[in-house]
Amino acid sequence: GAPIQVDLAPIAEGQDIKVFWRGKPIYISHRTKKQIQEAQSVPLSSLPDPQPDSARVKAGHDQWLVVIGICTHLGCIPIAHEGNYDGFFCPCHGSQYDSSGRIRQGPAPANLAVPPYAFLSDTKIQIG
Ligand code: FES
Repeated sequence: GAPIQVDLAPIAEGQDIKVFWRGKPIYISHRTKKQIQEAQSVPLSSLPDPQPDSARVKAGHDQWLVVIGICTHLGCIPIAHEGNYDGFFCPCHGSQYDSSGRIRQGPAPANLAVPPYAFLSDTKIQIG
């Protein structure tokens, strides 16, 4: 599929949108300061799939999280703004992801994947 461009300007802090790229749901979250702080402060040793938040967002744009919304357990679509970690909750078998899309609890083995994307400006990204 072709790359898509997404205008971020309408997404208020604390909100997220879902777009589709190559038939896959992509969540774009405008993280709050609290969500960013939580994502950055969790000890990596406590993560099942250890990845620093800085490896999952773009430098200078850490209020934006872009992840593929497919649970790494068996492929359900997690719900945003649900669960115990200010992130995503998968209703199928209870996996909980944090505000960086990292798996924190439940059967999923890995973090939500980050798709290839780039910032074209401060308020526009291209996915793919
Ligand atoms: Fe998400 Fe099983 S598919 S927890």
